[in-house]
Amino acid sequence: MTRSLTGIKPTGTIHVGNYLGAMRPALELVERHDSSLYFIADYHALTTVQDKRVLHSTIHDIAAAWLAAGLDPERTLLYRQSAMLEVFELTWLFACLVATGQLERGHSYKDALAKGLAPNAGIFNYPLLMAADIILYDTDVVPVGRDQRQHLEIARDVAIRCNHVFGADVLRVPEGVIQDDVLVPGTDGQKMSKSHGNIIPLFGTAKDLKKAVMGIVTASEPLEAPKQAEGTTIFTLYQQIVGKDKASGLAAKLAAGGYGWGHAKQDLVQALEDTLGPMRERYQRLRADEAGLDRVLAAGAERARPIARTTMERVRDAIGIAVRT
Ligand code: TRP
Repeated sequence: MTRSLTGIKPTGTIHVGNYLGAMRPALELVERHDSSLYFIADYHALTTVQDKRVLHSTIHDIAAAWLAAGLDPERTLLYRQSAMLEVFELTWLFACLVATGQLERGHSYKDALAKGLAPNAGIFNYPLLMAADIILYDTDVVPVGRDQRQHLEIARDVAIRCNHVFGADVLRVPEGVIQDDVLVPGTDGQKMSKSHGNIIPLFGTAKDLKKAVMGIVTASEPLEAPKQAEGTTIFTLYQQIVGKDKASGLAAKLAAGGYGWGHAKQDLVQALEDTLGPMRERYQRLRADEAGLDRVLAAGAERARPIARTTMERVRDAIGIAVRT
């Protein structure tokens, strides 16, 4: 029995890069584990999002997006981090076990300092809350992107340290599974990212999709010229959407000559619409019902709760804090 867990930070506009690079691979991983927990890290978001309306609405955006993308809440527990207050109890224990020096070496904290910002203590302590997110649920594996590697190391260190101090079997030591970065190009060919201003929105209208694709810069070979598909933004996106096998047809047409980038753009628009159109409809339906989303999140939390309780009973017992009645 292996349990996988991952956290999703509720920030920013959801775009095609998030879907192809993170959501779709994470949903495929569900098949490989007996149990999976995907939660919305709302208290982590508070380190940067300090506006009630924005946070509230982003939490619902994210929940609707994952459900629309195919997360089956019967199979994968989807819940809000904030539903389990025990996570803060564990964070405090970890704070008492970790040297401040280790947190001072944290990438996000150091980056903030390097930019001349005055990071809040939430950013400093971020890795401890993340360690608690993971360890509270007796997690075996944590699929994350490369940027989270250091956080994972801290989580492992703190679990090992706790077991060393309080007893070998108190905590399960999680393994990180670093997912290969899928580089999804944006409309300018750079990595798709909100900060680059090159995104294709995931739930935009059909018209928005078309407009974004038409804006992709291409080479200007004559129509009859044979064209190399590999490495171009249009083809890379097309291939990521439809898969390698299906995409080879488009590569062959371009290579044969007589097929222009305008045609290829239309193929891309069609492929995006075929996949994203039905997803957009599901999203709109789900997003319009916030109470329904809250019910899904609450049900996920209720199923996750006994796991957290069991861990905390073991922890309180091991550290000498009386078990509450
Ligand atoms: N820090 C992660 C990110 O920025 C989100 C996160 C919070 C997380 N808690 C987690 C990921 C626990 C994995 C496990 O993407």
